[in-house]
Amino acid sequence: MDTVGVVGLGTMGAGIAEVFARSGLRVVAVEITAEALDRGRATLARSTDRAVSRGRLSAADRDALVERITFAVGLPALAEVDLVIEAVPERLDLKRRLFAELDRICRPGAILASNTSSLSVTEIAVATGRPDRVLGMHFFNPAPVMKLVEVVRTVTTSAEAVGAVQALCARLGKVGVTIADRAGFVANALLFGYLNQAIAMVESGYATREEIDTAMRLGAGLPMGPLTLLDLIGLDTAYEILETMYRRGGRDRRHAPVPLLRQMVTAGLLGRKSGQGFYAYERPGSATVVPDGQTPAPAAGGRPVRRVGVVGAGDPADRLGDLFGQAGYDVLVTPPEQLGGLADADLVVEAVADELAVKRALFAELAEVCKPEVLLATTTGTLPVIDVAMAARQPAEVVGLHLLDPTRAGALVEIVRTVRTSAEAVATARTVCAGLGRTGVVCGDRAGFVVNALLFPYLNDAVRMLEASYASADDIDHAMTLGCGYPAGPFEVLDAVGPAAALRIQRALYRESREPGLAPAPLLEQLVTAGRRFRDPAAG
Ligand SMILES: NC(=O)c1ccc[n+]([C@@H]2O[C@H](COP(=O)([O-])OP(=O)(O)OC[C@H]3O[C@@H](n4cnc5c(N)ncnc54)[C@H](O)[C@@H]3O)[C@@H](O)[C@H]2O)c1
Repeated sequence: MDTVGVVGLGTMGAGIAEVFARSGLRVVAVEITAEALDRGRATLARSTDRAVSRGRLSAADRDALVERITFAVGLPALAEVDLVIEAVPERLDLKRRLFAELDRICRPGAILASNTSSLSVTEIAVATGRPDRVLGMHFFNPAPVMKLVEVVRTVTTSAEAVGAVQALCARLGKVGVTIADRAGFVANALLFGYLNQAIAMVESGYATREEIDTAMRLGAGLPMGPLTLLDLIGLDTAYEILETMYRRGGRDRRHAPVPLLRQMVTAGLLGRKSGQGFYAYERPGSATVVPDGQTPAPAAGGRPVRRVGVVGAGDPADRLGDLFGQAGYDVLVTPPEQLGGLADADLVVEAVADELAVKRALFAELAEVCKPEVLLATTTGTLPVIDVAMAARQPAEVVGLHLLDPTRAGALVEIVRTVRTSAEAVATARTVCAGLGRTGVVCGDRAGFVVNALLFPYLNDAVRMLEASYASADDIDHAMTLGCGYPAGPFEVLDAVGPAAALRIQRALYRESREPGLAPAPLLEQLVTAGRRFRDPAAG
């Protein structure tokens, strides 16, 4: 293969053209109008200039790279290329028409590839007279960075075409994974339910965009939060992908685009490419976020906290005591049967057994001992905070403080505000988290708070995908690490958390939401019953 064509130089096409040219191929880059062509050329120039300024590309190599690209308006420029990859908007009618036209224009041996994220490659292929030479070549955003390419093989694609595209992926320095034609393939089938759910959280006021993004970065270790990612993908593209996922993927309500998404697309808030999406950017195409009306003011206020009581016996209580002590608070760690010392505590944090009756009994007893304006915090990760709070003398002065990774500096704390929690109690909790050197995010009182509510349905979906034999555990893990930049794939995470703990969390999410799509995957239940892990060699 010497020359490849790229159709559509938007968010993805410009990056794909760069990837090809960087590995020495000649590229014919095509757009629909002269203005769109200029925009695409500018995007590519910005990206390669950035690579030069960061020392990843020499100026001479950049010039040679750009030299290898011919820019043109209209498809006829593609008559002689060996392969075309299409990256026009995610609409089936548009892609089918385009492929029919490419079939007429391109030489008979040329391979026609689609970068579609969710549409049926088979339906695109049969719009041409060469369905054996049509396949999906799904790059990830940003194309120059992400290592994975999902190579989608339909029932008509020839082995020869798949082989040629796999060889091309290797030449580009990408990892090509060949998979069958199914809505969302591997990565997007797992990603988009999560992204849609994050939008629903914003829409309902459950947490703010910053809190959700921060929670997923710090709490799940993701390279960026879901709303930042949506802005990068483009909200129009995300909307079309969700629509297709919903229609093709079994009408799972979790893929029905949240109304807020459609409203934003209609309003022209498309993300980075239009300069505004969930966040505002310096200018269209920029990645630099600028403050807007929703940018939160720095946290301040609340009541002063100096004396902290930690109630509990054992490791969790000792660790909490150390945490507060090292941050300079006066700490008293006390077992639940000796609460007398807590009379002048400004904050009491419980770390007793994660059972509702135990926590409620403690909060009722604290009413007898503590001063009226004390802030009470429960560290539960699984119980509804309001159920605990209602046992306290003043439910308005109760918050959840869900500490993830209690020993790591900068780690996340989910501050759970119930329907009764006062604004002052939330402000005090925020100030305390800052004092501990932790990052506090405030959220509502629902099962899984932010992190687990967004993370575990995705893990459960990965188990369902494995169960359906669509892809292997390795392929699924690779899709998320190499395609989406996740630090670990879903099966690595499930094994680290432990299937039993994962099942408990998933059951709680299902119980509360009654959402059929959140029912624990049977394979997860079976592994727990059998006492196995996903990577257990004995599990086969
Ligand atoms: N955005 C992502 O993160 C992402 C990731 C992977 C795959 N994809 C897929 O890539 C494809 C493109 O998505 P995008 O986000 O880059 O879209 P985009 O809207 O950013 O860019 C689409 C480009 O196609 C051009 N175009 C439209 N009609 C055309 C035609 N007839 N001929 C030539 N050019 C035409 C437009 O002018 C525009 O520049 C979609 O199928 C999408 O699902 C997107």
